[in-house]
Formats: sequence, structure tokens, C-alpha cells
Amino acid sequence: MQGKKVGFIGAGNMARSIISGLVESGYSAADIVVSNRSIDKLMALQEELGVNITTDNDAVLAFSDIIVLAVKPQIMADVLAQLDDTLVDDSKVFMSIAAGIKLARLGTMLPAAKRWVRAMPNTPSSVGKGMTGLIATDNVSAEDQNACGELMAAVGEILWVREETKIDGVIAAAGSAPAYFFLFLEAMQSEAENMGFSHEDARLLVQQAMLGAAHMVVANPDTELSTLRENVTSKGGTTAQALATFTAGELPALVSKAMQAAVQRAEQMSNEF
Ligand SMILES: NC(=O)c1ccc[n+]([C@@H]2O[C@H](COP(=O)([O-])OP(=O)(O)OC[C@H]3O[C@@H](n4cnc5c(N)ncnc54)[C@H](OP(=O)(O)O)[C@@H]3O)[C@@H](O)[C@H]2O)c1
Repeated sequence: MQGKKVGFIGAGNMARSIISGLVESGYSAADIVVSNRSIDKLMALQEELGVNITTDNDAVLAFSDIIVLAVKPQIMADVLAQLDDTLVDDSKVFMSIAAGIKLARLGTMLPAAKRWVRAMPNTPSSVGKGMTGLIATDNVSAEDQNACGELMAAVGEILWVREETKIDGVIAAAGSAPAYFFLFLEAMQSEAENMGFSHEDARLLVQQAMLGAAHMVVANPDTELSTLRENVTSKGGTTAQALATFTAGELPALVSKAMQAAVQRAEQMSNEF
């Protein structure tokens, strides 16, 4: 995608993560422009990364082949309505990273724009370990899809989906998922403290166990998760005893229920914008 001009409307946390990832991976800062309502975040981005900055969203539109819309969902309609749509031509691709706004709704917010990509990143994008689901309207070329994919790959892994309902699945399986793991770790840390460890030591124990397990999963892509689990579970041992307790408490069914609840809420939220 080198050579494509990329613009960001909104210079908040997520835009900042993507822009840092892009520049650190060698993308030319001269080909990036960023706008924001207030100036401070822009100044910091220019100083640290050398990107072009502006407080004029139309300047982003005029400059860019790909326009990343990185404002909060509640203000997306207003921001798009205020753009000068005479600057929109057929070659430009608009990529929204806003949670909960469907492609069809985005199209009504800026009817002059015809080529749309919707990306759903998650918060670990801020540390380069994000997971982003993407979907494009049919008229986005393979080259432009690749470019949008590369943008999000600057902050982690990407997965393209064909049906938009799958974006709600991405939210349930990846978008909201870091919080599931935090909850699990909190519960483990708390019980380790009950066993007499200090707060800090309990955190070290559980976070390192999680990190090690995550690395084992990633390092063994061809091994089923169930096999990884069985490999560390000796018959009659401590792990087997703990896992039997999880099973008796119907943990897998509870996980399904929680993920379905996330999907339902995503569906509801997409009707709010
Ligand atoms: N953070 C995440 O983990 C995450 C995950 C998935 C999706 N997203 C999506 O990413 C989008 C951005 O989220 P965020 O966390 O980066 O939010 P954020 O930090 O609040 O950033 C939003 C930015 O938009 C700017 N802005 C407001 N009005 C504007 C306007 N009229 N023109 C240009 N810029 C304007 C704000 O400027 P000021 O500084 O002046 O207010 C702010 O810097 C959201 O739609 C969110 O749903 C975020």
C-alpha cells in the first residue's frame, strides 16, 4: 500500500495506535494526514511521528486515497454531514473504525461516498496486539481491501468477513474478549491472595501463567486447544481436579451465554446510530 495517501479524521487513542504502528513499520509519514477537533494531540503526533496535521477535516478528504473515520460513533453522522462532499470522488475509500455503525448506515451519512470498509478493532491494538474484523462493500477493489487490511495489520492481526452479522461475532469473540480474560485473572488473583500471596505476587503468578499459555497457543497453531489442555492435564492430578470443578460449574455453557449476550447487545447498539 506504500504510495497511497492515508488520512485520519479523529486523532484519539485508536487513531494514534494505528498511525504509530504504520510509521514504525516504515510507512512514509509524508503520506499520512491527521485531523482533530483540538490541536494538542495533533501537535504531539506531528512532533513524534512527523505526520501532516490539520484541524480541517475537508483537508484530509482532499489529500487522501483512504480516509479512516476515527471519531466516536455518537458524532459520526455530524462529522460526515459537515464534510464538503464535492471533494468525494469515486476513487476514495472510507474506512470507519467506529463501533456499532453498519455499512448501510454509514452510506446514508455520506451518500457521495460509495466505497466503504468497516473495521472493528479491539483495545490491545494500543500495544500492537489487536484483533480487527473487517468488511467491505462489494465495490472496494482487492487492492484497496489489501491497503485497508494493511492499515489495521499495523496494530495486530486482521480477519475479513463477508457477512456483516459476523462483525457482531468478532465483537463477541475478540472485541469484548480482553475484558473476559481480565475478569478471569481478577478472580484468580483474588484467590491467590486468599492463599496468602501479596497482591503484587498474586498478579505476577496469574499474569505470567496467562502470558505463557497465550504464547503456547500461538506457537502451536496446528495443535487443537483441547490437545494443549490435555497435554498439561495428568490423570488424577491437580489440573484435572481444577478442570473438573470448572466443568461441574458449566463454564463452557456460561462462556457461550456471555458471548451471545455480547452479540445481542451489538445488534441493539447498531440500531442506535
Ligand atoms: N479505543 C478502542 O479500543 C476502540 C476499539 C474499537 C473501536 N473503537 C472506535 O474507534 C473510534 C475512536 O475511538 P477512540 O478510543 O480513539 O476515541 P477518542 O480517544 O475519544 O478519539 C476520538 C477523537 O475524535 C476527535 N474529534 C471529535 N470531534 C471531531 C471532529 N468534528 N473532527 C475531527 N476530530 C474530532 C476527538 O478530538 P478532541 O480531542 O478534541 O475531543 C478525539 O481526539 C470510536 O468510534 C470507537 O468506537 C475504539
